[in-house]
Amino acid sequence: MKTRYIDLIEQTFDFPKDEFGLKDDRLTWNGIDLMDVIRKHGTPLRITYLPRIGEKIDMARAGFAKARREHRYAGGYTYFYCTKSNHFSYVIDQVLKKRVDLETSSAYDIEMIELLMERGEIGKGATVLCNGFKDERYIRNIGRLTRKGIRVIPIIDNLAELHQLDEVIEGPCEIGIRIAAEEAPKFEFYTSRLGIGYKDIIPFFLGAVSRQKKFRVKLMHFFINTGISDTAYYWNELSKCVNVYCDLKKLCPTLDTLDIGGGLPIKNSLNFDFDVDYMIGEIVGRIKDICSENKVVEPHIFSEFGSFTVSDSGATFFSILNQKKQNDKEKWNMIDGSFMTTLPDTWAISKRFIMLPVNNWNEEYERVFLGGMTCDSDDYYNSEQHINAIYLPRFQEDRPQYLGFFNTGAYQDTLGGFGGIQHCLIPKPKHVLLDRNERGDLIDRVFAPEQSAERMLELLGYLPQHEMARK
Ligand SMILES: Cc1ncc(COP(=O)(O)O)c(C=O)c1O
Repeated sequence: MKTRYIDLIEQTFDFPKDEFGLKDDRLTWNGIDLMDVIRKHGTPLRITYLPRIGEKIDMARAGFAKARREHRYAGGYTYFYCTKSNHFSYVIDQVLKKRVDLETSSAYDIEMIELLMERGEIGKGATVLCNGFKDERYIRNIGRLTRKGIRVIPIIDNLAELHQLDEVIEGPCEIGIRIAAEEAPKFEFYTSRLGIGYKDIIPFFLGAVSRQKKFRVKLMHFFINTGISDTAYYWNELSKCVNVYCDLKKLCPTLDTLDIGGGLPIKNSLNFDFDVDYMIGEIVGRIKDICSENKVVEPHIFSEFGSFTVSDSGATFFSILNQKKQNDKEKWNMIDGSFMTTLPDTWAISKRFIMLPVNNWNEEYERVFLGGMTCDSDDYYNSEQHINAIYLPRFQEDRPQYLGFFNTGAYQDTLGGFGGIQHCLIPKPKHVLLDRNERGDLIDRVFAPEQSAERMLELLGYLPQHEMARK
């Protein structure tokens, strides 16, 4: 009987696959022998493999180029990166290297952009989309940014914003209008709180926008919270938005762009079979068809892909510290970290990441639950998408077992907080950046060591800052 972990995986999936492979009994990822990384840096460990960010941007751009060719689509395509998915400088560096423009969501995003402009990393030719509900500071910052000679397109979330922006923006300025999408049926509410309802778009334009000269409507934006998916719900929302676009275009000749937001999904299982090129092809084709029916020129397309850009660059590793057998059936493998603090989406929205052991693939497997180190009963991870349970190489006290969670590069650091105070004072793990040099060799750099006790005590007000300086 085949009872080795490798047998289980080979029987369940087509493996090795994409970025995952094996070297003897160890997992490789993007050609990296992960045990080498763990031996050098220990666990818990968060890594970012930088080249993957540029690869993902190239992938989406190639998908849109192919779709536009195939559908003889007259409009252009521009890739924006949604900064809130991961604001860290090493991510933004990779994104800017690909000459990608940025989409912001808050006041401090603008301050980050101003700093990048001062350093010459963002040039005057760049475009910044300012999305989200805007408080006074965000409005003020948008106004300041428009005076720095960069192309800024605020996306209007509500009527009041237009008046507020009018007070801080001097010259002519392009704007976008966000349509509030209808939420997927599983939500507790019908309409997204973000944006302006479908029926209110035309009255908003005729009543407030068309009567003034400063703002020129350039784009219409929508974002479907549940992401881009081959479902009746998604296609229905897309078609409603494109129809509103066509109605508005007939009244507003300056409108020439549809911003389809983010939402390209990421792999959450080795069985993931989302076909990016097919979906992009369908989106482009459907936009073109609806515009043709309405006798409207097809728009330029903007996208604001966040997770798609940055998720695949991230992975998080833990060791199994011990196994607790709570009854005949339940074996708890305790990890040296916390799911709640390190991968908060696993707890908050029951998100699943690809989870694989790093070593011992030739050993027998067993079914386990994974327990985090906080004393919160919700700090666990217990199901893999494919088999509704977790299987790992059999635990042995004298044999280290490491496991990795993959595609963790988006949102987890900011939702869980970086270097702050975490539940049960679990420290933020060490964070290492991996890259390739000109020869293609792997190089690494510690971005942040594991959070220290002193740093936590200082944040908690136990150690004054001058004492910290002496340490
Ligand atoms: C307006 C807007 N654009 C883009 C994104 C990025 O979405 P994703 O990370 O799914 O690509 C978000 C995410 O919440 C968003 O709210």
